[in-house]
Amino acid sequence: MENPNDLLVEVKDLKTHFFMNQGVVKAVDGVNLKIKRGNTIGIVGESGCGKSVTARAILRIVEHPGRIVEGEINFWRPIAEGHTKGSNNYEVINLAKLDERGQEMRNIRGREISMIFQEPMSSLSPFYTIGNQIAENLLLHQESLTKERALERTIELLRLVGIPRPELRINDYPFQLSGGMCQRSIIAMAIACNPSMLIADEPTTALDVTTQAQILALMQDMQEKLGMAIMLITHDLGVVAEMADDVSVMYLGRVAETANVDAIFHDARHPYTKALLRSIPKVSGGVRERLNSIRGMVPDPFNRPEGCVFHPRCDEFIPGICDKQAPTLVEIAPGHHVSCWAATGN
Ligand SMILES: Nc1ncnc2c1ncn2[C@@H]1O[C@H](COP(=O)(O)OP(=O)(O)OP(=O)(O)O)[C@@H](O)[C@H]1O
Ligand SMILES: [Mg+2]
Repeated sequence: MENPNDLLVEVKDLKTHFFMNQGVVKAVDGVNLKIKRGNTIGIVGESGCGKSVTARAILRIVEHPGRIVEGEINFWRPIAEGHTKGSNNYEVINLAKLDERGQEMRNIRGREISMIFQEPMSSLSPFYTIGNQIAENLLLHQESLTKERALERTIELLRLVGIPRPELRINDYPFQLSGGMCQRSIIAMAIACNPSMLIADEPTTALDVTTQAQILALMQDMQEKLGMAIMLITHDLGVVAEMADDVSVMYLGRVAETANVDAIFHDARHPYTKALLRSIPKVSGGVRERLNSIRGMVPDPFNRPEGCVFHPRCDEFIPGICDKQAPTLVEIAPGHHVSCWAATGN
């Protein structure tokens, strides 16, 4: 199949709900995303808006009692070797329909799409050396590899991610490494099989600012070397401005606005995106400005507002419209989509 837009993953109307005793949490409730080959997409939004659940849904590792209830996750997989830009022969696999424990999904997870988890230490076991964990991971995905070759490859990978003297470091346990070195090892593990997409869920939140900058630079460097796409989940709009080609702003399980990074920062149309941008601290000389926070609170997940889920906090709320019917994403300029009655005038 031809793939004119260089798509890698297209999430369509994805709904992932958690069926709890107290009711249903609609963690992801109609998310649409397009991730292009080799690009970085930044996913931003306040805590609880469904960023991690969306990522877990793509990898089919949503925890019980959650499950995908609707939608598609189309993965454009090159049929020929490699996943570099320009290749034009694809099969499209709907990951939402695969058996999450089946062989096909296990082949894709960790090998073609890999993830750095939000809790960094949950990716490393305290009981095994770094070398052992990365080599095991390699052996899991590449059965033909010998143990010796896996260890050699582990050393290469650790060198690639900037760990000094990797031939000695492979014998270290995670507690012997700094936070930055642990994160480098986790990145080494995630890129070991040369994935076509790396999902990085808050990859630098636990790190100090200098280490954060180094890890982001490392990710960019790896992207250049390997040609992988990055889905970068973060609270930090500064990180997004630095790293992303495209940005999707999420609110309460839906996408409020998607555009390229320049349009998000200079021509935001959704009142929620505008509010998020106003909440970034500015380093301006002169008078100390009060830091803006977004009015109101994210609603209780069991009580989603009617109509547009953002309307109770919105500065541009139109009574009788915004509280009655949910808007959908509308393309207002090429590649710029907004889900807002006020912005699209529908
Ligand atoms: N295992 C679970 N069981 C029940 N509800 C869950 C579970 N995991 C997530 N949720 C709910 O789904 C919603 C979205 O959660 P998610 O973790 O995706 O948010 P997030 O955008 O990643 O937030 P953060 O920025 O804090 O990481 C939240 O309301 C959360 O409480
Ligand atoms: Mg999260």
